[in-house]
Amino acid sequence: MWTSLLDVLLDMDPGHDDALALLTALPLMRVLAVTAVAGNQTLDKTWLNARRILWAAGSHIPVIPGHAKPLLRDLVTAAYVHGESGLDGYAFPTLPPPGETPHATEYLARVFAEWPRPIAWVATGPLTNVAAFLMDHPHLAHQIASLTLMGGSLSAGNITAQAEFNIFVDPEAADYVMSSGLPIRMVGLDVTHKALLRRDDLDRFLTLRRPLGEMLFRLFSFYGRHEPDAGEKGIPIHDVLAVAALLHPELFTWKTTAIRVGRGEDRDRGQTIPVMEGHPVDVAVDIKVSAFFDWMWNALGAYR
Ligand code: RIB
Ligand code: CA
Repeated sequence: MWTSLLDVLLDMDPGHDDALALLTALPLMRVLAVTAVAGNQTLDKTWLNARRILWAAGSHIPVIPGHAKPLLRDLVTAAYVHGESGLDGYAFPTLPPPGETPHATEYLARVFAEWPRPIAWVATGPLTNVAAFLMDHPHLAHQIASLTLMGGSLSAGNITAQAEFNIFVDPEAADYVMSSGLPIRMVGLDVTHKALLRRDDLDRFLTLRRPLGEMLFRLFSFYGRHEPDAGEKGIPIHDVLAVAALLHPELFTWKTTAIRVGRGEDRDRGQTIPVMEGHPVDVAVDIKVSAFFDWMWNALGAYR
């Protein structure tokens, strides 16, 4: 039976888990473009890393650079997790220069204005590009079918005790997006800390075709290096769950609530706080872990 693939745009800050999320999305959806945002590393690096992953996948989808810093704050990166390149662990070949490329906001305006139907949006980095687009082109918001974002937490944080990294980096952007009225699914640490990739599973990457399988094995061997109990508990692959949530929301348990984002300093910054007033979003609070990994490995089977 002919199944029409879902039209989707991806906004990412690759990043090891962004890379895996991109690779699971490519065979399952019509990815119209990837936009890069500063987050795990500086924009020049996240932009290059997105192009590197598409090279490994043999894909020629447009990769467009967006914002190099948060709306109001200085950039905070995660080199301690993803390394100096933002995708340490594998020696990528030198890619040809990307040539003249527009800014993501301008590119997205053209795509949303010209595409014949609404487009699903997945964001796996700080929400700077998403917020800036909504601020600059509010008349195109109706063309966004849904926004599925990796970010936030109703429980503990991972960059402070309370805040998740993507939201912490640009809390103003996150607060603007959460209250935008878009149909939003928030996939946060409440579920991404339950679906951990075990070190024993890394060998499964080697069953995929070259160079992609070896690339993933080396990338995630590096990425898991600082997770002290990666062997037993495993390593988080946060962003992959956002792709799964878009395609298979039935793998998750959802709580509908409005969310306020802490825009202060210290403990308040980047907290995602459920509130009674405001536009509701769907927050993932549980996940069918085994069914999720069955889905992920099946998606990656496209690269055999
Ligand atoms: O907190 C995890 C998130 O921050 C993931 O998206 C990871 O790639 C980093 O961007
Ligand atoms: Ca990310």
